[in-house]
Amino acid sequence: AALPIWQGKTITITAGPTREGIDPVRYISNHSSGKMGFALAQVAKQLGAKVNLIAGPVNLATPANVSRVDVVSACEMHKASLDLAKSSDVFIACAAVADYRPDNVATQKIKKDNDVMQITMTKNPDIVKDVAALTANRPFVVGFAAETQDVEQYAKSKMQRKNLDMICANDVSVSGQGFNSDQNALKVYWDDGSKDLPLDNKDALAKHLLSLIHQTYNR
Ligand code: C5P
Repeated sequence: AALPIWQGKTITITAGPTREGIDPVRYISNHSSGKMGFALAQVAKQLGAKVNLIAGPVNLATPANVSRVDVVSACEMHKASLDLAKSSDVFIACAAVADYRPDNVATQKIKKDNDVMQITMTKNPDIVKDVAALTANRPFVVGFAAETQDVEQYAKSKMQRKNLDMICANDVSVSGQGFNSDQNALKVYWDDGSKDLPLDNKDALAKHLLSLIHQTYNR
């Protein structure tokens, strides 16, 4: 029988949200479930890859034989990603990374003494952009883009700005797909091509996407 397509290759995937601390009991985060990234990890393993899964806080079981690294904040995910990306053939950024983090994490619980309270925030590092900017041992880099309008235009400009090899856009304005859903539809773009992956379960979509990445990676 033929070898599985990703045999001998290492694929690193980020998944889920990040959580940015405000004080010891509070944080800022988002509704990402991690399902798409976990589906990609499971299928990549089934297709023969050695898989690293860098996961934010999610309620999902680790797929069999996948090496999982749990992180909480964007800065932690950034560090784990750059470490593992250097020894990876493919890096897939599926995580919904918080764009900003509070400037300071209060050491004690903040009291409700004031009617107005302000949190000043700092921009988080762009993980996938920094991986794509690696000069030595740069993997093939795949990003995601959640858009609500002008999906193709925004996705393509994101691919260029971040120097990605491929970008997978999902229209999050369509209900029943994307965030927290079991289903998704993707429009995939690379330097000189594109492909529509219509609405499907995230594991079926993961299979299509990993074979598409394989075709493009092997040109
Ligand atoms: O810029 P935007 O957040 O829309 O880009 C989405 C893509 O960038 C996703 O692949 C996401 O995982 C990645 N990203 C990242 N680090 C960030 C923000 C986004 O890796 N700080």
